[in-house]
Amino acid sequence: MTILVTGGAGFIGSNFVLDWIDATGEPVVNLDKLTYAGNLASLASLKDDARHRFVRGGIEDAALVEQLLATHRPRAVVHFAAESHVDRSIRGPEEFLTTNVIGTFRLLTAATAYFRSLDEAERQGFRFLHVSTDEVYGALGPDDTPFRETTAYAPNSPYSATKAASDHLVRAWHHTYGLPVLTTNCSNNYGPLQFPEKLIPLVITNALAGKPLPIYGDGKQVRDWLYVADHCAAVRRVLEAGRLGETYAVGGGNEWANIDIVRHICGLLDAARPRADGRRYAEQITFVTDRPGHDRRYAIDAKKIGDELAWAPAETFETGIAKTLAWYLDHHEWVTAVQDGSYRDWITAQYGDDHDAS
Ligand code: NAD
Ligand code: TYD
Repeated sequence: MTILVTGGAGFIGSNFVLDWIDATGEPVVNLDKLTYAGNLASLASLKDDARHRFVRGGIEDAALVEQLLATHRPRAVVHFAAESHVDRSIRGPEEFLTTNVIGTFRLLTAATAYFRSLDEAERQGFRFLHVSTDEVYGALGPDDTPFRETTAYAPNSPYSATKAASDHLVRAWHHTYGLPVLTTNCSNNYGPLQFPEKLIPLVITNALAGKPLPIYGDGKQVRDWLYVADHCAAVRRVLEAGRLGETYAVGGGNEWANIDIVRHICGLLDAARPRADGRRYAEQITFVTDRPGHDRRYAIDAKKIGDELAWAPAETFETGIAKTLAWYLDHHEWVTAVQDGSYRDWITAQYGDDHDAS
């Protein structure tokens, strides 16, 4: 038994691969293009572990995906690979279409052909799990009820539009071609191994470096934050027991305004790593121009996955953010390698300039 994970060198994917091997011991084939967001240093603890086979390549490379499926014969595909940063999607949307839409299409096509080649018992067990976002539902007003599986799609950014397109493709491949799919739509994740372009690691690393903490607009935008290990547990649970063709909304029930999060992190840092000059980290907060089309509020009603699959987050925001902060404080080398770009050397050191597609 083995599973194929895409995007397993990214933030959630690497947490998932580490948790998966730890929790199940089942081998993983990890297909990742190693864009700027892919970091093999995150998987350093698996370097000599035969249960983790890393393959550098793109999901849009149909021949490579077909070859991997035929060679490794996975019982499931867990699809994390994506361009994931809203701000980057505003500056350069094309990569988002290539990976999130065309890439997902090619992966679905290859998975369908592979699925059809399986014998009856293998087909019964096969799953294609698509990891998506709550951003496909658009923005909520302050008094709106949280997003759920039946909320109409209304994506507002190039990122969320391409994720919405990929969700629709996954749904269509189930209805049209009978591929056994599952989709999760999760709220904002935070935790170890997150690239410091996203709010929480950006604030932690900038604070420690004495840099400004940029808050977009008035900072009153609200997100529903989920600790990454809780998301990984939800994905495992949906893979194990989710109903075919269904979508599951996953969230932390932790709505926080950005400015409150940043102040909270500053307070924790004041206690854990006081500034040398005795001043408060909150003094580094700087309000900057708002993101165009910035969604005001996201929130998830996770009742379905709770009722059907008995999933619930293990962490509160307070416990999760304390663990996250401790991880960043303890992993200075990982942070420095990302900041100075030397994390890219891991790729060359391990795979040369060429990609390994074994
Ligand atoms: P990330 O940007 O940290 O990682 C993405 C990974 O995909 C990287 O390792 C990158 O190298 C790889 N990748 C990119 N293009 C590829 C391609 N064409 N072929 C193969 N690999 C490719 O993203 P993340 O935050 O870990 O998010 C993972 C998934 O979860 C995404 O699908 C995202 O939409 C979804 N999601 C993220 C969040 C969040 O808060 N981060 C919340 C809900 C859902
Ligand atoms: P982000 O981590 O980029 O996730 P998403 O846009 O997918 O929700 O941003 C989280 C929130 O933080 C979002 O409302 C934008 C805001 N933000 C800032 O205020 N400053 C920043 O420097 C960043 C990166 C985000």
